[in-house]
Parts: sequence; structure tokens; C-alpha cells
Amino acid sequence: MIPTPVPPARPGQPASFDAALRDAMAIAALAPSSHNCQPWGLAHLTGPGARRAAAHHLGRTKNGDSTYLALALDRERSLVALPAHDLEMLLSCGAYWRLLLRALDTLGWAAAADRYPDHALNRVSEFGDAWPSTWSLLAVVELRRHGIPDPDGFADLRTAATDRRTNRAPYRKDPVGRELLGELGQLEDIATTGTVIRHFTGADERARFVRLLARHGGRDFSHAAAWRETHSFVRRDEAAARAAGDGFALSQLFGPMSAQRRRLFSLALAPATMRALRPLGYHRAFARGIAAAAGKTPAVVAMSRPEQAPGSASLVRAGGDLVDYWLRATRAGLAVHPLSVLLQHDDLRRALQSSLGLSGRTVFVARLGRPTTGFPAAPRLDPGQAGRRI
Ligand SMILES: Cc1cc2nc3c(=O)[nH]c(=O)nc-3n(C[C@H](O)[C@H](O)[C@H](O)COP(=O)(O)O)c2cc1C
Repeated sequence: MIPTPVPPARPGQPASFDAALRDAMAIAALAPSSHNCQPWGLAHLTGPGARRAAAHHLGRTKNGDSTYLALALDRERSLVALPAHDLEMLLSCGAYWRLLLRALDTLGWAAAADRYPDHALNRVSEFGDAWPSTWSLLAVVELRRHGIPDPDGFADLRTAATDRRTNRAPYRKDPVGRELLGELGQLEDIATTGTVIRHFTGADERARFVRLLARHGGRDFSHAAAWRETHSFVRRDEAAARAAGDGFALSQLFGPMSAQRRRLFSLALAPATMRALRPLGYHRAFARGIAAAAGKTPAVVAMSRPEQAPGSASLVRAGGDLVDYWLRATRAGLAVHPLSVLLQHDDLRRALQSSLGLSGRTVFVARLGRPTTGFPAAPRLDPGQAGRRI
């Protein structure tokens, strides 16, 4: 693990890289991830062999003033029940990475060079034996100190990352202004990364989206392997969620609830209940609930990549765009609730894309609106747990 106690910087003195990294990791750990599984790993490449290998990866000569980091997908923490989970894992890691790099930038370290392999590299030998065998390499960056920290930028980022959360409650019906949607859709990095963001606010298109959810939104509940995996992330209450450090409490899925309601929901969501009641169309009741919430939402947002089959480089970047978008929405007082079921099965994804006229490969879809209520924060693992010094 990376974090060790770091001596505080003297006033006026820039913080050490270790201190900056610890602070940046605390922010990055707040990134959203599918089922809150937090599938990222971060290597601080400090050994001479690892630094040389990093410079080689970047096609540059090793620089004594540079610091090298590598982003990994931790396959041990990844969801595996559906092929589409591969994509969600890469988006999640991309969100973590973008938050990390943004935080480091405000603390005085900027990327001088980076590289994202087209396909996650499962066997990584050049960083030596300390590289965990369950990690797939997703990105390498060379950082240089640019000098002037931006404490206000750091504070703003930390506030937005802390306030951002998945809000699954109903949203207010009043429209989100066109101008605001325009600002949300035009993120500075989008132009370079190629993610296409579209909003749908018209009654017809929203109705088409809701119909798809009502018809198919129960697919994951009725898919035995997918539901078993999802259910393994559901915690009885917030104390159990905090103790686990991942997943979500029932209240994070369905809002605050009494102990009696909690017991009822635990029983209702158990894989055995799902299995037994599936022939009676039990899963469709969940789909109707999701569709009802979506029906009251003023906007739907979809993010797509131009390629039909985006590789890991493309998806890691899209994950960064996703978290940038979500932070902007948070700052604007908006709430976001991803509804990935329509993207997790190819037939449903194609139906969604054709119904909304989305080209390329849609990688994220969510409802967007003004919240009617706050939502409890989901737990996180100790931010240092994702890190290794190699
Ligand atoms: C790629 C991706 C897909 C997601 N899909 C869903 C989804 O279908 N339904 C849902 O309720 N939350 C979804 N989420 C939200 C996560 O469950 C959430 O980020 C995680 O539980 C942590 O909670 P937080 O966002 O409140 O910090 C998704 C998140 C990501 C990054």
C-alpha cells in the first residue's frame, strides 16, 4: 500500500509528491464504480527498473525529475457475471484515473506524457515481481512538477467529488434548462477524447426510453448469475456497508427505511426468492418501479464512443469524461442515476440506440434531474488499499 504517514509541508513549501499522492488518492477513491466494486489499482513506479520500464512504455528517455504512475484494473475486484461488465470496469477505472490526475494537477503535478494501451495488458512483467498478478495495465503517466499548487481548485474538486453520488430517488419533474444541458454536454476534454454526450428531454423520446425500461428493466433481476453477483454487493445496513467498504446498503438503493422494511427487502431481493418467483413475472415488478422513477425524470443522458467496439484506451478515457460530467452536474445541483441494464445486453443496447438514434457504441445511460431528497453516501475502501509502490 502506498500511503504512509507523510510529514506536513512547512508553510510556503510545496507538499512532497507522497503527500500529494495520498491526498489525490483520497479524492480518486470517491469515483463511481459499478456495484461500488472499486476495481482500480494504482502503482507508484519508484524502483529504478520500474521507472526505466515506464519511460520505455512512454517511448521517452528516463528523466530523473519525473514521477511515474500506472493505472491497473484489479481483476480480483472486478464484476464478471456479464460480458458488458468488462466495459463498466474500464469506465470505473477511467473515472478513478481522471479524478486522480485532476487532483494531482491542482497539487502541482501535471502529465508530461501518457500512454493507454489499446487492450488492457494482463501479463505485465516489465515492472517486476511486485506488480500484482491480478492487475491488468491500463495506463502509464509521466508527471512533472509544474510548481504552482491551486488550493482553491483542489478544494473545489474535493467538494464536488464528495457531494457526487448516485441518487436513486425520484427527481423533480421541472425541466433542466437547455443552456445548462449545453454546458454539461461540452466538457473541455470531450473534444480530445471523442466521447459523444446527448441529452433527451422531449416527451416522445423519454417515453420510448421508459417503455424500454418497463419491458426489459427486470432482465438483471431474472438473470441468475448477474443477480447473484449484484446481490453479493448488497449490505444489510449502512454499518455493514461501512464495515465492508464496498457495495451498497439497502438504504443506498431504496432510500432510508425502517428495520421492518429492511427485513422485508432483504427477503424480497434474495437470489432464492428471485429464482422461485421468476416464473410469476416477479422481476417485472422491479422493472415497473425503475420505469416509474424514470418516467418522472425530465432528462436522460447518454454517452457514446464513436467506435462500435471500443478498446480499453477508449473506455478509460470515456470513464474520465463520465466523472467530469457527473461532477459538473453535481456542481449545478443535478442528480444522476445510471440505468445500465439497457446497455448490459446487446439486444437491449441495440434497441436503445435505435430508439434514440444513438450511433457508435453507447457506454453509459442515466436519468438526470433535480433531486427531491439527498441520498446517503456509499462506503469506500481505505484509499491507500488500491496503491502499491513498485
Ligand atoms: C459504469 C457504471 C455503471 C453503473 N450502473 C448503475 C446502474 O445500472 N444502476 C445503479 O443504480 N447504479 C449504477 N451505477 C452507480 C454505482 O452503483 C455507484 O457509483 C456506486 O454504488 C458508488 O456509489 P456513489 O456513486 O453514490 O458514490 C453505475 C456506476 C458506473 C460507474
